[in-house]
Amino acid sequence: MLKIGLLGVGAIGRTIAMALDQKQMNAELVAVVDQDRARAEALSAELSNHPAVVSIDEMIARCELAVEAASQGALPGFVPKALAQKRDILVMSVGGLLGHDEWFHAAEEKGSKIYVPSGAIAGLDGIKSASIGRVEFAQLTSRKPVKALAGSKYVVDRGIDLENMSEETVVFEGTAEEAARAFPATSNVAASLRLAVVRSAPVCVRVVAVPGGNQNVHEIQAQGEFGRLTMRVENVPAKTNPKTSQLAAFSAIATLKNLTQALRVGT
Ligand SMILES: NC(=O)c1ccc[n+]([C@@H]2O[C@H](COP(=O)([O-])OP(=O)(O)OC[C@H]3O[C@@H](n4cnc5c(N)ncnc54)[C@H](O)[C@@H]3O)[C@@H](O)[C@H]2O)c1
Repeated sequence: MLKIGLLGVGAIGRTIAMALDQKQMNAELVAVVDQDRARAEALSAELSNHPAVVSIDEMIARCELAVEAASQGALPGFVPKALAQKRDILVMSVGGLLGHDEWFHAAEEKGSKIYVPSGAIAGLDGIKSASIGRVEFAQLTSRKPVKALAGSKYVVDRGIDLENMSEETVVFEGTAEEAARAFPATSNVAASLRLAVVRSAPVCVRVVAVPGGNQNVHEIQAQGEFGRLTMRVENVPAKTNPKTSQLAAFSAIATLKNLTQALRVGT
């Protein structure tokens, strides 16, 4: 049975832990870490096998696959350590991987895998297949409720008045790398798209603030040798974190299922 360690027990981490507890896959949660130790202890107490609440180093030592569902800021203190111990890792804070090609090289060297679930987006299977040929462009338009953008540094620094916004407004246009830096808590899908598309193709990202909205809607458009692709997901937000889509946690669980069951469907 695959031994799993978990960093971050918020909206996504908790959902993953519950799925493991319900034995939805052939894997066992052996250790949990959170900067909010009380939160990790409360979750452990709820689970039937009471996984150990430990430090990052101890979690890495106890598991075969370390799952990150914490924050972009957590990655530098987690990824190099896990790879140094030859662990496989699953990363949800995908934006934090951009600009760290040395981690991909370290994984190659150590024979570790870095799993990036599709998260709150769909269509990465098609984009990956398309990238075998020439891709001319890929574009992501993310429509977000103002409450999901409120408080983000990018919005605050530019004095964008979300409260008095009366119609849909483009608040950001740029590359996936710029999007990941501007909105670390909400632009992981832009980073996932960037990682799925060949390097040479441009990935353009637009973030649209939607007053009164309550869904994170992501639309991918891509064009290339394969033809054209359009994909749209209307996401229901997670109950405990409006910035996070329910699909993101489900995608992590689906990735773990892929790893632990015989049949694997999709690219
Ligand atoms: N890939 C995707 O499509 C996708 C979608 C949604 C969210 N995410 C990302 O996944 C991550 C988790 O999302 P969530 O909604 O569960 O967040 P959350 O805020 O609900 O929970 C995060 C948990 O991690 C803990 N944490 C944060 N930084 C930490 C650190 N440095 N060390 C230890 N613990 C730390 C927090 O205390 C909290 O308990 C976020 O980075 C989020 O941006 C990715």
